[in-house]
Amino acid sequence: MSKNNDQNKLWGGRFTEPTDAFVQRFTASVDFDRRLFQQDIDGSVAHAKMLVKAGILTAAEVSKILDGLESIRQDITDDKFEWSVALEDVHMNIEAALTSRIGDVGKKLHTGRSRNDQVATDIRLYVRGEIDQIAELITRLQSALLGVAEKEASTIMPGFTHLQTAQPVSFGHHMMAWYEMLDRDYARLLDCRKRVNVSPLGAAALAGTTYPIDRYFTAEQLGFDAPTRNSLDSVSDRDFAIELASFASILMMHLSRFSEELVLWTSAQFNFIDLPDRFCTGSSIMPQKKNPDVPELVRGKTGRVHGHLVSLLTLMKSQPLAYNKDNQEDKEPLFDLIDTVKDCLFAYSQMMPAVSCNKDEMYAAAKQGYATATDLADYLVKKGMPFRDAHEVVGKSVAFGIEKKKDLAELKLAELQNFSDLITQDVFEVLTLEGSVAARDHIGGTAPIQVLAAVATAKTDISKR
Ligand code: ARG
Repeated sequence: MSKNNDQNKLWGGRFTEPTDAFVQRFTASVDFDRRLFQQDIDGSVAHAKMLVKAGILTAAEVSKILDGLESIRQDITDDKFEWSVALEDVHMNIEAALTSRIGDVGKKLHTGRSRNDQVATDIRLYVRGEIDQIAELITRLQSALLGVAEKEASTIMPGFTHLQTAQPVSFGHHMMAWYEMLDRDYARLLDCRKRVNVSPLGAAALAGTTYPIDRYFTAEQLGFDAPTRNSLDSVSDRDFAIELASFASILMMHLSRFSEELVLWTSAQFNFIDLPDRFCTGSSIMPQKKNPDVPELVRGKTGRVHGHLVSLLTLMKSQPLAYNKDNQEDKEPLFDLIDTVKDCLFAYSQMMPAVSCNKDEMYAAAKQGYATATDLADYLVKKGMPFRDAHEVVGKSVAFGIEKKKDLAELKLAELQNFSDLITQDVFEVLTLEGSVAARDHIGGTAPIQVLAAVATAKTDISKR
């Protein structure tokens, strides 16, 4: 796509020999930063309008500049623009094209700015747009989870600690736990947006500029909340990229946990759920296989996003003020983590509504692991036994059940009474899975009625976004 000829460099004045061909390729960023063309042109439009307002350029000059920029925007959009590696990056490609289209007046656009504040502005605009799309995708996935939670509020599964059956829970409750993780991700993302949305434009190379620029005007034109407050910090700061990568790393950690559960649950050993065929693939050798590729890949992609966070932190570590060429290395990790997060959220938002629960298997699994043992202990406590003693009694009952290969609910009353005479016929109400789940009836508990209340609250919350 890119020409590698030695075009006139925009900074060639003090040089006596052409750039080494390797160095030209090594230092160029156009192959990846051309992704910023819309933001670069938006930034230039705001800057050019400000230059007229401040009396630095004439209205006629800026009108030509604006027309030229829009024609370039159109050509890039239509894939008719010829990018050149010799022109290094998106900024100089566009500026050179402007001058070649409108003549010398194009050379005036760069008055009072530098590529250093220009690139910082472009990335912030880009990140802001992507944040808004990611926020939308999180909301979509959260809504999907609410749908499943509502439908499966009374579906019983074993809840685990240490991946050992602990207590029965509602499948809907489990979905709402995922919802909560995403809710924190959403809040972190919006918090990050506040620090993204400030305008570095006008910081110029590092110290500001001698022209009477109006940074409030350009900030407002570009939808920023305010201009940044220190020019040195403006051109060197990439905290916002690191914050986004941190947000993304935590989100991906969450998605990797969801994925791990889906992979387990779809296995023949668990068989709790089925994923729709369109989200799975087969094996070229084993005809029976239906592999949960989408969750597996999401789990795998977590690694690259975590890697990008470390790349960005290491990129910025020990950099002296202000701009350094190192910063050009911010883009590839940033772009890739954004793309990855969007794809993973999209995949999940499509997949989750199509998950089907194997209710009988989940129920049978919940019955297996003495999941209502705590309920029996609580029953004894309510009849006056101290909790530690009740724990001991139930432990012995469980050991007896294991020996007889029977669940607690399957033991005879007389057998249970061998362990405590406080046990009477009503014990069987608390030993059922339904009774156990329904009894956890407080905010945050797994009782179906509480799950439905949590869904209702969440629906109201996200409708306000
Ligand atoms: N391509 C550069 C980057 O992405 C643009 C800024 C270059 N500034 C400079 N002084 N060389 O960071």
